[in-house]
Amino acid sequence: MIRPDIIRDILETARIEEVVGDFVSLRKRGANLVGLCPFHNEKTPSFNVSPARGIYKCFGCGKAGSAVNFVMEHEHYSYPDALRYLARKYNIRIEEKEQTAEELQALNEQESLYHVNTFAQKFFSELMFQTEEGRALGLKYFSERGFREDTVKKFELGYSPEKQDHFTRYALDNGYNLDYLLKTGLTIRSEEGRLYDRFRSRVIFPIHNLTGRVIGFGGRIRTSAENKPKYINSPESDIYNKSKVLYGIFFAKNAIIRQDNCYLVEGYTDVISLHQAGIENVVSSSGTSLTTDQIKLIKRFTRNITILYDGDPAGIKASFRGIDMILEEGMNVKIVLFPENEDPDSYVRKHRTSEVEALLHSGANDFIVFKTNLLLREAAGDPIKRASLIKEIVQSIALIPDAIFRTVYVKECASVMNMPEQTLMNELNKILRQNFNKKMETYRPQIYPDEQVYPAEKQITEDPNLCEYQEKDIIRIMLLYGEQTIPANGNDSMDVISVAGFIVHDLSIDDLTFQNPYYQFIFDDFQKEMEKGRIPSEKDYVNHADPSVAQLAIDLVSTPYELSDGWSKNLILVKVETEILKEAVLSAVLAFKAKKVDQMIIRNQQDLKAAADEEEIMALLTEQMKLKGISREINARLGRIVTK
Ligand code: UTP
Ligand code: MN
Repeated sequence: MIRPDIIRDILETARIEEVVGDFVSLRKRGANLVGLCPFHNEKTPSFNVSPARGIYKCFGCGKAGSAVNFVMEHEHYSYPDALRYLARKYNIRIEEKEQTAEELQALNEQESLYHVNTFAQKFFSELMFQTEEGRALGLKYFSERGFREDTVKKFELGYSPEKQDHFTRYALDNGYNLDYLLKTGLTIRSEEGRLYDRFRSRVIFPIHNLTGRVIGFGGRIRTSAENKPKYINSPESDIYNKSKVLYGIFFAKNAIIRQDNCYLVEGYTDVISLHQAGIENVVSSSGTSLTTDQIKLIKRFTRNITILYDGDPAGIKASFRGIDMILEEGMNVKIVLFPENEDPDSYVRKHRTSEVEALLHSGANDFIVFKTNLLLREAAGDPIKRASLIKEIVQSIALIPDAIFRTVYVKECASVMNMPEQTLMNELNKILRQNFNKKMETYRPQIYPDEQVYPAEKQITEDPNLCEYQEKDIIRIMLLYGEQTIPANGNDSMDVISVAGFIVHDLSIDDLTFQNPYYQFIFDDFQKEMEKGRIPSEKDYVNHADPSVAQLAIDLVSTPYELSDGWSKNLILVKVETEILKEAVLSAVLAFKAKKVDQMIIRNQQDLKAAADEEEIMALLTEQMKLKGISREINARLGRIVTK
């Protein structure tokens, strides 16, 4: 844990131009610096760095962020690791929060578990290469499967001998603590207290974490008969969390970045065989269904996943839910179907690398189109099934966070299903609205939500129930101009008030709230800080620990639409003339209120439709007249400002 005051220190010290400058050569252009974007290929520089704002933005690929974001993005670091990197760069001492004896004990325990695993891995490998039994039963098995020796060495494969407690004895003799042998699961103790090697008489596949340390093992039986499980695996431990790792990720990560794609297979041997054939951007979920943590792990390196399937349609359908989770992460999913009774491993063994590559490239189908086709075949000639099929497809499309991609899919699926786009679009909007409302209900800002739960702006503005546009404008103004002052009231008065103060005051009088939880979060934060006598600035949010808040703030302060003269020119916060600023603030606040009143009118009309008794109807009608009066008044004031 890094202490919050040190985090602040790091964020304040880090200069965006210096941090980026370590990786990108930057040239001065006006108040900014420009260079070639490190996140996409380009020949003319569109990567802008603003020292004044402490942010970067690429106008080619749209990537934007603060110094911390840059390190996270560029070096694939987590947030704390990026902070540590910056601290090192600027010689800021991080005293990680003092650890309690228990934490120290836990740390040592984790370290000990790693040590035991490394020791075991070496034992299994050496035994396989150096003993008669190992060569005859282990190495032979792998070579018969077509694994070359360099492959066996790279993946640190091994062999665990037949003798009941060979490894356990050896480890104990070498001073390893039985406790750790049991915790890693390498040793099993029977009820009578007898010790067994978990993996005895199996070939061994060590499982590595992202940094290449051995965290667990899979052990395969060498013969097919016997009614024992084909694979047994290490149990979960403090260092091995099955739902968080992917087999092969350590060996694959660089290739995944290079290829900007990750192949996902089912088994250990699929990973190894593809690797051996030169296709290294491949990981395995080890036969279980994919978890969100595993998807996020891949997302650190690429946004593209290609799933290699060797199943039958029923098995594939069962995995659709898992794939929906990938879409939800905003990632692109493709599917490659292998011929019947072939998994990637067996296919690679029977085909030339060029043929494998051909299948991986030309055989790849976009998931949504694939799903549509599969369901369509099932529904052939059954109109009822066909109707439910639309829902199912659209449900997948609705998970995609990006509105543009959603539209593309609607078009594509409409054409595959041979039906009007509008039908799908209507269904999609319905689902989006439902999902959005559901998210609103469950939103709690303290639990930093995942990025992008707010739907894209377009969809919201189309919906009279939402006022994304107006809310966004208010928050944008607070972030950009919150600290500047405007005349408090009347033109002659010498009294001034901060923009943030004005907005907070004005909206709280009417008890107005934001529908978008992120905006509400920023607004509340302003209010809280201002009660303490401090006006927050955009930097507080651009550098926010919650990546969703940070991304939102970055988007708001760097949106080209607002900075009409072009983003770069406006980078230095020009002091906006107070009169103009005041009008901008007023019109934003009024537009927000007008929208809110409009919503109340709509709700009132809905209530009217549903109302039964006369008294209720009269009350609602009175209410409506009042609301319409307010609406007229606000719009008149708004008109005066806008048209002036
Ligand atoms: P498969 O049955 O497809 O095995 O299980 P495979 O990877 O093709 O193995 P080979 O080629 O027969 O040697 C896929 C994955 O599911 C897990 C393993 O991770 C395996 O790689 N699995 C399978 C188990 O954990 N236990 C089992 O008994 C079977
Ligand atoms: Mn196989």
